[in-house]
Amino acid sequence: HAAEANRTDLMTITRFVLNEQSRHPESRGDFTILLSNIVLGCKFVCTAVNKAGLAKLIGLAGETNVQGEEQKKLDVLSNDVFVKALISSGRTCILVSEEDEQATFVEPSKRGRYAVVFDPLDGSSNIDCGVSIGTIFGIYMVKDSIEPTLDEVLQPGKNMVAAGYCMYGSSCTFVLSTGAGVNGFTLDPSLGEFILTHPDIKIPKKGKIYSVNEGNAKNWDGPTAKYVERCKFPKDGSSPKSLRYIGSMVADVHRTLLYGGIFLYPADKKSPNGKLRVLYEVFPMSFLMEQAGGQAFTGKQRALDLVPKDIHERSPIFLGSYEDVEEVKALYAAED
Ligand code: AHG
Ligand code: MN
Ligand code: MN
Ligand code: MN
Repeated sequence: HAAEANRTDLMTITRFVLNEQSRHPESRGDFTILLSNIVLGCKFVCTAVNKAGLAKLIGLAGETNVQGEEQKKLDVLSNDVFVKALISSGRTCILVSEEDEQATFVEPSKRGRYAVVFDPLDGSSNIDCGVSIGTIFGIYMVKDSIEPTLDEVLQPGKNMVAAGYCMYGSSCTFVLSTGAGVNGFTLDPSLGEFILTHPDIKIPKKGKIYSVNEGNAKNWDGPTAKYVERCKFPKDGSSPKSLRYIGSMVADVHRTLLYGGIFLYPADKKSPNGKLRVLYEVFPMSFLMEQAGGQAFTGKQRALDLVPKDIHERSPIFLGSYEDVEEVKALYAAED
């Protein structure tokens, strides 16, 4: 009967968040409304991504579609969708997007208590070849929603109230943490609802996979080079780790969360702060990893303790299984 009950007792993401909300009697449902607008944005991007190939065909005539509209690149289109969905939620006052140089301050009549930082389309280089891409977001509760300033988003990631991502792959998977563990939901296209499919995700303590762009090896610093060397030629007689690198952070992190192992985008001589952006890539993924029992390290400190000075600041990142990241920390500590 359990299976039967399961099939009929559909736990949608909205019901799940409402249940969570009952843990915060003081909340006025604002977070639920905010989240439902983020979910709406992800559903839209999911359909747009799935049609992107076809749309491209339609827009062959010089990048305009049949209505003569200027064809928007998917990451610009996704950005427009999320900015509009977040503003119309009436629950945000500041938005930071990878695609917008400046932060967006929501007009006073539509302001709410949350600041949202997001990467509307992560893994853009993989769009044209149909490889998994995603959306990443982090949410801060602001102190002053009447006259918000940029300081509200130049906060360490540990101050986030929620973080998550949506991966547009063979299925559309939404992974979320509101600070009480990590849960995964899969979109049922026939219902148009995200259904709880991965309750209480915990990352294995140690993994057999490392995930890094080996093409940057020439420019790595000592500890990173040593760590990767150990993955390939273990000294303790254990078997070498497998390398898996998709090139979309969302996909590489999702695999790491479910299978265990470590994802690293280290600093290198060309980019001393690495490539990934602190607010809307490093923080949300680090938040999720810690909530799932893993950890995230910048090479100098716990990633969530970092205080960004600029909304598009970058940081090196080593995240994943607790024990794997411990090894990296030991190598950097030995370096000091
Ligand atoms: P985005 O497409 O949002 O700019 O992010 C791309 C990022 C991230 O998704 C991925 O981990 C990384 O770029 C891959 O970089 P390399 O191609 O340098 O390995
Ligand atoms: Mn990205
Ligand atoms: Mn992006
Ligand atoms: Mn980009």
